Amino acid sequence: MGAEPLTTTLPRERATGTATAVAHPNIALIKYWGKSDETLFLPRTDSLSMTLDIFPTTTRVRLAPAAGEDTVVFNGEHATGEPAHRITAFLDLVRERAGSTDRAVVDTVNTVPTGAGLASSASGFAALAVAASAAYGLDGDPRALSRLARRGSGSASRSLFADFAVWHAGTDDLSSYAEPVEASADLDPALVVAVVNAGPKEVSSRTAMRRTMDTSPLYEPWALSSAADLSDMRAALVRGDLAAVGEIAERNALGMHATMLAARPAVRYLSPASLTVLDSVLELRRAGVLAHVTMDAGPNVKVLCRRADADRVAATVRAAAQGGAVHIAGPGPGARLLIEDER
Ligand code: DP6
Repeated sequence: MGAEPLTTTLPRERATGTATAVAHPNIALIKYWGKSDETLFLPRTDSLSMTLDIFPTTTRVRLAPAAGEDTVVFNGEHATGEPAHRITAFLDLVRERAGSTDRAVVDTVNTVPTGAGLASSASGFAALAVAASAAYGLDGDPRALSRLARRGSGSASRSLFADFAVWHAGTDDLSSYAEPVEASADLDPALVVAVVNAGPKEVSSRTAMRRTMDTSPLYEPWALSSAADLSDMRAALVRGDLAAVGEIAERNALGMHATMLAARPAVRYLSPASLTVLDSVLELRRAGVLAHVTMDAGPNVKVLCRRADADRVAATVRAAAQGGAVHIAGPGPGARLLIEDER
């Protein structure tokens, strides 16, 4: 586990015209919350994540030189509005770098169950970065792909890599990228995802992180403590100390939510059902089970535990999640190109 060789291999010499890539979601154990540059997607802090082995996104990009505009198909349906606009804006970046004016047909299949509470933008833009780079003949170097994916959605920069990845905030486009981070093979973690509310969020993470940075008096102290959390986390991963990994992830996530609660007006993603799941995880800990929580821009709760305990943890949080679905994930693979037959 950890700094394994990348599975991403891309032809560098020429555009293929058509390429298909697959990428998985990732969950941050040290959070990205706040940008220092909104155009370049430069984050205010470094972050660190685990790529999951569930819910891949598969994206095919086919150049359509004769077409007047891009076509975006999402789970078999023609996409319009903001989702299609984000993809076209991303392809514009790719075209600018490739010196191409060719439009493209983007066909994406996302296996995250609707409303699973796992952001599909990370796997989505990681898969799109890999497929579009191959189709337009751009550099397939993992760092270049991570930088490109970042421009679609910040967290996508980390989904290029298997297992654990750190995203260096950097100070400009070149220096802001993710890369694999070392972890002991003894870690053997699972992430139990408890879906407590599958509805759409009221405030997008993009808006919420901006408001937090602009108005929360707790933001700067959190950003400072997050740097310390990151170095503690890296050491705990190398030691294979899952208890420490969980403790650090939990305090970092709770701290992030505290910064939002102190924003003006407050951003509150956690619901009563989220708190019930948090209580059930405390009960597990009292019973001697190693389990810690992390939460993102929504009410769903992810519980980090030993793989051997995952079924027990899932059963406990399922009871607390008030009918919500529960999924068990392990560390997953990095983004990669598919050969056509694999699709
Ligand atoms: C809470 O990557 O979705 O999940 O860069 O604006 O697209 P944009 O935001 P996004 O934010 C993710 C925030 C988070 C924490 C994390 O994944 O690190």
